Amino acid sequence: MSNLDWIQRSRAALWHPCTQMKHLEALPPLPIARGEGPWLIDYTGRRYLDAISSWWVNLFGHTEPRINAALVDQLERIEHVILAGCTHAPVVELSERLAALTGLGHAFYGSDGASATEIALKMSFHYWKNCGRPEKAGFVSIKNGYHGETLGALSVTDVAIFKDTYAPLLHVTHQVMSPDWRQAAPAEGAEDVAHRAALELEAYLRAHADTTAALILEPLVQGAAGMAMYHPSYLRLARALCDRYQVHLIADEIAVGFGRTGTLFACEQAPPALALLRSAQEGDHPTPPPRGEGPGERVRVADIADFVCLSKGITGGYLPLSVVLTRDEIYAAFYDDVTARGFLHSHSYTGNPLACRAALAVLDIFEQDDVLAANRARASRFTQLLAPVAAHPRVRHFRHTGMIWAFDVVEAPPGFARDFQRRALELGVFLRPIDETVYFMPPYVLGEAEMERLVEVTLKLLDGPCAPAGAI
Ligand SMILES: Cc1ncc(COP(=O)(O)O)c(C=O)c1O
Repeated sequence: MSNLDWIQRSRAALWHPCTQMKHLEALPPLPIARGEGPWLIDYTGRRYLDAISSWWVNLFGHTEPRINAALVDQLERIEHVILAGCTHAPVVELSERLAALTGLGHAFYGSDGASATEIALKMSFHYWKNCGRPEKAGFVSIKNGYHGETLGALSVTDVAIFKDTYAPLLHVTHQVMSPDWRQAAPAEGAEDVAHRAALELEAYLRAHADTTAALILEPLVQGAAGMAMYHPSYLRLARALCDRYQVHLIADEIAVGFGRTGTLFACEQAPPALALLRSAQEGDHPTPPPRGEGPGERVRVADIADFVCLSKGITGGYLPLSVVLTRDEIYAAFYDDVTARGFLHSHSYTGNPLACRAALAVLDIFEQDDVLAANRARASRFTQLLAPVAAHPRVRHFRHTGMIWAFDVVEAPPGFARDFQRRALELGVFLRPIDETVYFMPPYVLGEAEMERLVEVTLKLLDGPCAPAGAI
């Protein structure tokens, strides 16, 4: 079968995600026969650099030998077993290791990111109900945030193109200012924007905490908003406010977890509590939380979040798996003789052994290869190589956090994103700009030659035409 055969059969039989199918007339799906490290390979053997890690899921390249071996081993044991009434080593070991890494002691599994969001929202609401506060049923999220597209997750998402059509089906939630540093006024820095955003959050919580169960946010990078990046002090300020007003904080690390922002989890970059004392004394900023750490000590997810949602990179991009980790105190509020006080949510593939084995192999690789240190060197080299891109006259707001790079293209015409994607493919690179934002979120195996190729192609694309006349 040729590339063309697969394209035709795909268009006839599938409904592709996040796609206006008619657009496939001009930009057909890329038929992929194989993968190898950061490369995708089509049915003619042509190679494409996977610069977005297959929708932000892949960590160590395609067909990674150690993850492959773990899966083959697990296939010989058990492929799947119901997790209601049964348990197994991979899910127990994974839960223990994630608890040790985050400080959040109990793990509830789902399948995709959106199911993790649903679980965290329901758990937060149910916790307050079990505590005799059923009126705490509302949610507050951040402008331009994205948490998935099932109805609950979409209710806290704030991306018009995904949300507006379904508005009549959704719960009413409230959105507060994003700390996205691109909104900085001339005299402001990223931290000032974070403080301004925290003040707006405080005003909201002051008025609505009694009816609010939780704040949900994407720590450090709002991915679907176009890789909006923000100062880590916002995480500490948000935590302080959630403590002050008795509202849960749900950290959606679905896209940013597992090393993507430079630390294993993005929440770990929040400043230690005492670092905020100065700001709190100087201005009308929230006081530091009672829970927290002294300067220089490692911040853990549990210092910031009551719930953390993980997915995407958790299996290195191999299998769908998500998990919500929460505090033992929250878990304890469900532990009861009364069945309905328990968390009765379920998905058939919850805690799938194969997916958990892939996740365990991922955690092993982080340890064996000292991935975070290697990424620091890789990221610094790539940022250096990207200097001509950052300085290009069509580029503004060049930004970088860990293993994510993004920039906005000035005067991008309608149809820019798809046109850029199509032209990048012609040059052997798979990219997927979000509106006028071009970003790179490569697997953690990008070598020097591949970085150079990515820079070269990007410069060529920026120097080329914006979009074909009349494209929409
Ligand atoms: C921050 C965030 N939350 C949730 C989701 C939803 O995950 P999924 O697509 O696996 O449902 C995504 C997906 O991109 C995401 O980036």
